[in-house]
Amino acid sequence: MYRDEPIRAEDLQVLLEAVLRAPTAGNMMLYSVLVIEDQATKERLSQTCDNQAFIAKAPLILVFLADYQRWFDYFHLCQVPKFCAEKGLSWREPDVGELFIALDDALIAAQTAVLAAESLGIGSCYIGDIMENYEVHRELLNLPEYTFPAAMLCLGYYPHDYQRRPRPRFAQEYIVHREGYRRLAGAELRQMFAGVEQDFPAKNRFGAANFGQLMYARKTGSAFAQEMSRSIRAALKNWQGGR
Ligand SMILES: Cc1cc2nc3c(=O)[nH]c(=O)nc-3n(C[C@H](O)[C@H](O)[C@H](O)COP(=O)(O)O)c2cc1C
Repeated sequence: MYRDEPIRAEDLQVLLEAVLRAPTAGNMMLYSVLVIEDQATKERLSQTCDNQAFIAKAPLILVFLADYQRWFDYFHLCQVPKFCAEKGLSWREPDVGELFIALDDALIAAQTAVLAAESLGIGSCYIGDIMENYEVHRELLNLPEYTFPAAMLCLGYYPHDYQRRPRPRFAQEYIVHREGYRRLAGAELRQMFAGVEQDFPAKNRFGAANFGQLMYARKTGSAFAQEMSRSIRAALKNWQGGR
């Protein structure tokens, strides 16, 4: 999948410089980037992220954290709670609003890395499973409470003879709505899925009779999706100080 070759230090530097130029809410940089090159950590992540063996073979892994820890440590350093008490302002720890805006920042930073990497001949793959096993990842990556692993990228140079084959997407008319949301139903919804339904394997390990059943069993109804929701609930509780 990737060339078995480490990412050159100068390429990593260009990539990280691009990330740091990404737009960020209030110019606060509410994210952190973990550069993972240690083989033992890669192996562990390949297990904890739904046993995807290729993760351990990636020359470089980047984990993008939503991060409000730095700002709240700074607020404490600046004695903001005392200032609030004196001035009659309310003092609040990070809540879900802070988490979501930090998630925006982290994901924008991650996608900036994807684009910069492409320009350097480096392919990447997101790993959504980094949002699973929150307690394990907190320990493994030393995550404080006001951080959350929003996205993980496996990166490596494309093989020299790599043939890019863009994967099909749903047509624009179903995804792009003018001026407001347009809920699809009936024949139009059927039409949207007609293309992907053509490749439906009648024999499949779930005994699914159609594409909807197959995708539900593979994704939304799967054990990993359940674990992701459990893990995110645990992280959310932690972020909100157990409230
Ligand atoms: C949020 C997110 C999570 C993903 N998680 C995984 C993953 O865990 N394993 C994997 O092999 N690919 C993962 N992918 C890659 C997608 O499967 C891939 O982007 C999609 O099939 C479309 O293919 P393309 O990006 O090559 O066009 C993820 C992509 C995104 C955006």
